[in-house]
Formats: sequence, structure tokens, C-alpha cells
Amino acid sequence: MSLSRHNGILNIEDCAVPALAEQFGTPLYVYSRAAIESAWRAYDQAFADRDHLICYAVKANGSLAILQLLARLGSGFDIVSGGELARVMEAGGDPGRVVFSGVGKTEAEIVQALDVGILAFNVESEAELERIAAIALRKGLEAPVSLRVNPDVDARTHPYISTGLKENKFGIDIHRAEAIYRQAAAMPGIRVTGLDFHIGSQLTELDPLADALSRSLSLVDRLGDTGIGLAHLDIGGGLGIRYEDEQPPTPADLAERLAPLLADRPQRLLMEPGRALVGEAGLLLTRVEYLKPGHRDFAIVDAAMTDLLRPALYDAWQRIENAEPVDAEPRLYDIVGPVCESADTLGRARSLALVPGALLAIHGAGAYGFVMASQYNARPRPAEVLVDGDRAHLIRERESLEALWSGERLLEMP
Ligand code: LLP
Repeated sequence: MSLSRHNGILNIEDCAVPALAEQFGTPLYVYSRAAIESAWRAYDQAFADRDHLICYAVKANGSLAILQLLARLGSGFDIVSGGELARVMEAGGDPGRVVFSGVGKTEAEIVQALDVGILAFNVESEAELERIAAIALRKGLEAPVSLRVNPDVDARTHPYISTGLKENKFGIDIHRAEAIYRQAAAMPGIRVTGLDFHIGSQLTELDPLADALSRSLSLVDRLGDTGIGLAHLDIGGGLGIRYEDEQPPTPADLAERLAPLLADRPQRLLMEPGRALVGEAGLLLTRVEYLKPGHRDFAIVDAAMTDLLRPALYDAWQRIENAEPVDAEPRLYDIVGPVCESADTLGRARSLALVPGALLAIHGAGAYGFVMASQYNARPRPAEVLVDGDRAHLIRERESLEALWSGERLLEMP
């Protein structure tokens, strides 16, 4: 594990967390290179006995240095925008290993993806299929297409991050997919290459995934009967991490569970993990500014919902710990930020020993942390540091005040 304690001081790899906060300031995102690489390798090894490609879901953490690490391991990428595609390319990722998901791909994004030659579009509607076909034809190209089916299974996770039910906006109803595959196979400008699903995030059980896969495989069989062969199957992402006391399945559990379903299937297996590769590799460091005792005891810290949105948006629980010993009695504190919103709470009723200036580490912050940060209340976004053994690399500077208004224009006043 990349986190350890020495004399009560939290370490990430061989760096003392308080020294990182001292050097780079707070709030600060800190990631472990070893944790990211070993999570990726665990996935890769779990599926080593079949042709497969891990397409890291860039939305979980799109920092260039992290994409660069994964690209060097040979990773593919799952993107949901032209911006994410540009990031992947900037970091040295291979566009030939990119799958493009998302319900709202614009003309410009489709052109961009066709120009660089991505592996597949995960198509989420008939209208999108027609748009991709028209653009590809105009360019004299064939667009590689995989239909994202909505298998109508309950992922049994938080409703905001559940995507595989009929009432969700994602994917094509699996009962209609066969007809649309037939249409797609006959369309000039389209090359049908695969089938894809993603049923939700922070999954702690494998049954819903296995269920989605077997429903998809019956569709693959029906397609095969009509002469439509697929080159790949994409099972999406979604494996959970341990925020509190969850016992999420490992990639090896996933591989073992799916193996009987996939036996004798010639297709290359694609997967799109995000959180499981980076989530536990990251901490958000924050310092206590003030203690405010009263009806509830508040600890007001220098990080906010603008830096880590998950607690405010999903009522998510993330572990908060002292990064070094503090000489005070533990009390139950609400850990809150300075933003003018009651939702600006990072943790409620946490037992912590605090004094002003105490340094806290919020765990599980590597995924859906910095990427969801905003500048609300004109707060510059935090810096990011990647730790590699005893070395700490600044991979993103703290945003400057000037950057807050870059691109803005004052009116010309007489
Ligand atoms: N593939 C697709 C098509 C997705 O929509 C997602 C996540 C993933 C892969 C990666 O899922 P993961 O392996 O990370 O679970 N902001 C929320 C999570 C939103 C997930 C959206 N889609 C959170 O902080 O919990």
C-alpha cells in the first residue's frame, strides 16, 4: 500500500505528507505513482489470458501526467469529449486505443475523433449513428462503431451514478439494439466493430455486471446468426473502491466471474475502469483555518466543495484523518469549507483531534476529485503533486488569480 504511518505521521510512498503540504501549500491533491501503476497492472494481469484492452476512463482524473503514466503502460482510454481526446493526445496516448462514449457527441468532436483515428465510437442513439455516418461519408471514411446498449439491469449503486436502467439517458434499449445493428451494418460510412455497456459506478457486487454481460451475449449470438460479427466486447467500468467499509470486488474477482460467460468467445475484451485505477491513489490535503464550537462543532478548513464536490453532490462519505499527531482531545467535528453554501461540507460528525493549523488528509480523492473542481467564489483550483518514491513532482501548479479571469474582457469605457 502506498500509505503508511511513521511515528503518527502519514506518508505517501516515501514522502511525509506534512512536508508536502509545507512545500506546496494547501489545499493540495497528492497522488501515488506506484498505487496507480499497480492498480492498472492488477487489471491487466487479471485478464492476461485473453485478448483485452484497458481503456482508462479519463473523466475520473484527466491530469496529463497521470494519462502519460498510463499511456506508457500501454493503456487505452475511454473519453467523453473532444477535450478529453485532446488531453490524451497531449499526454502521448495512442488514439488507436481510444473509445469515445457519451450521449451528446457534437459534429466537431466526431470530426476530431475521425481525423485522429480512434478505435471506436460507443454510439448511444440512432440519431448519433446517423450523424456519425453522414460525417464519415463526407470525409470518405468508415467510422468504427460499437453500440452502447442499455441492458436494463439495476447496478445497485447510488442513483446519480447508476446508468444501466431503462429510465437512464444512456445507451440504446437492448431490445431495440438488434434492429439498429442491422441498420448500422448496412450503412455506408459505418463499420460495426463492437458492443458496449456501462451500468454504473462504485459497484460493490458483480451480479449486475454478469447479468448485463449475459444479456449482451445473447444479443451477440442473435447478431451472429444474421451475419453480423463483432470484433470486441466492452464491459464498461464501474468497480468500486473502499471509501468506508465496502468490500469491492477486485479485477481478479471480476475476471473469474466473467470467465465462464466469455469462454469460447473470440472477441477482444475492452473495459473502461476509472475510479478503481486512481481513486485510492489520491489524497486531498487541507488545513484547519478556524474551530467554531457551538450547537455543532465546526472545523473550517481551506478546502471546499469547489475542490472536492462528491460529499456535497452525492452525500458521499470519504475518510478524513489527521496527517500528523495533534495535541488535543478528539471531538466530533463537521468539516466544512469557506464557500457560501450550506452544502459546503466535506464530512459530518468526524471524531478528530484538531487545533487551528492542523493538517487533514481526505482519502479516496484520486478519482472524481480535481476533475470536478470549480472556481466558484473565485477560488483558484488546487495544485496537484505526484509522488514517486521519495520524490514529489508538481504536475499542476496552483491556479493563479490571473487565471481566474483569463479569456475575460473588460468593456471599453469612454
Ligand atoms: N465508462 C463510462 C461510459 C462511464 O460513464 C464511466 C463513468 C466510466 C466508464 C468509469 O466508471 P468508473 O470505473 O470510474 O466507475 N462523479 C461520480 C462518478 C460518475 C461516473 C460516470 N461514469 C462520482 O464521483 O462518484
